[in-house]
Amino acid sequence: MSNSDLMTPQTSPTSILFVCLGNICRSPLVEAVARQRCAEAGLDVRFASCGTGNWHVGKGADPRMLEAAAEAGYDLSQHRARQVRAGDFLAYDWVLAMDADNLDALLPLRGSQGAPVELFLPWAGISEPVEFPDPYFGDEEGFSEAVALAERAVDGLIARLQSR
Ligand code: 4NP
Repeated sequence: MSNSDLMTPQTSPTSILFVCLGNICRSPLVEAVARQRCAEAGLDVRFASCGTGNWHVGKGADPRMLEAAAEAGYDLSQHRARQVRAGDFLAYDWVLAMDADNLDALLPLRGSQGAPVELFLPWAGISEPVEFPDPYFGDEEGFSEAVALAERAVDGLIARLQSR
């Protein structure tokens, strides 16, 4: 290893935390899709998810999300919801929020040394939509649309990680 290697700042993302509101629909879905697809692509990245709210802490994924994800080959059965904590901003390289409300809730928790907090879809190269729609109050179709959007975004995530 040369001196210049030692002085190169570590900027590559190696761990990513996805954040939504309840941690029972969008962020556990994205976590599962990212984990599975990155493993298939041979990328060594650590993924986790949490929510800014505490209503569902300890609960499994929403059954509608579980089913739509399973139909597409993603297993959410082991997921248990948790709330974001201050230590997350030091434990992960990136904290990626599903929508602007959650981004706004995260920023005051971050601290000056914390990981960058950004909106997930633009981070993954998607400009439309900018926010990941919340399927929780909608019908079944919204859950299968969430799976398709998560897959599209994870394609962008993989492209970003592979180009670093
Ligand atoms: P998520 O969806 O943030 O994608 O997990 C929601 C889950 C629960 C609620 C809202 C959104 N809720 O109001 O309980």
